Amino acid sequence: MAEVIIVEDQDAAGALVADTIVQLLRSTPQPVLGLATGSTPLSTYRALAQRIRDESIDVRHVRGFALDEYVGLPAGHPESYRSVITREVVEPLGLDPSLVHVPNGDAATIDTAGEEYEAAILAAGGVDLQILGLGRTGHIGFNEPGSSLASLTRVKTLTEATRSDNARFFDSPDDVPMHCITQGIGTILRARHLVLLAFGERKARAVAAALEGPLSAMQPGSAIQLHPHATVVVDEAAASELALADYYRHAWANRMAWQQP
Ligand code: F6R
Repeated sequence: MAEVIIVEDQDAAGALVADTIVQLLRSTPQPVLGLATGSTPLSTYRALAQRIRDESIDVRHVRGFALDEYVGLPAGHPESYRSVITREVVEPLGLDPSLVHVPNGDAATIDTAGEEYEAAILAAGGVDLQILGLGRTGHIGFNEPGSSLASLTRVKTLTEATRSDNARFFDSPDDVPMHCITQGIGTILRARHLVLLAFGERKARAVAAALEGPLSAMQPGSAIQLHPHATVVVDEAAASELALADYYRHAWANRMAWQQP
């Protein structure tokens, strides 16, 4: 079972996850981070940027792989995940941009982009720590319900629910692309440590389904039940539908001294 940590708010989650990432950066010569976009990981990126600055942590060798990208946005579009990763991660953390990869959403070369991305992750030695958000539909990456639990990086059609959730980033809901290229669930499961974050009541049902529901392609987040090292960090609102919430609090409060998230 994933380790489930229920925290007070997003800042507490960000501080906790940043601490885990700092330990990785200090202990691994060429750490590889799996990067999510969207609102959920922002408190983690903020806390991590602060720690890197305050403690002068060497990030010259940090490599990164984003989870996903829209297909067909013009190069340099401010809401392409390439732009978002540059703005929210590469610049504030001071990473080397040439070491941070985002799937190639150029429609002209999309046929081969998935395979190339998989090869790049393998060549980097795989992802050490994968940050994940959870969509209201239960998606991780952009693996919408019905995605194969063994899937690799490929093109997917976004659900209308996800397009409407992401419309807040665009001038008009119609501007949200229909298609994306996303790491598959199989790709995500290869990372050595998964850290799934979710905040707010609107995520509560998806969190409960992912952690306590049956393992099912209908709930892509439930795939984390297969992973030997998964940490889930949620606030009280996102935890509100968890049947075992009291047990998770009890287990975290009584964790052994050696237990790290
Ligand atoms: C983003 C991603 C998505 C988001 C999810 C939640 O790279 O892969 O799975 O994590 O849609 O989005 P937010 O965090 O904006 O609620």
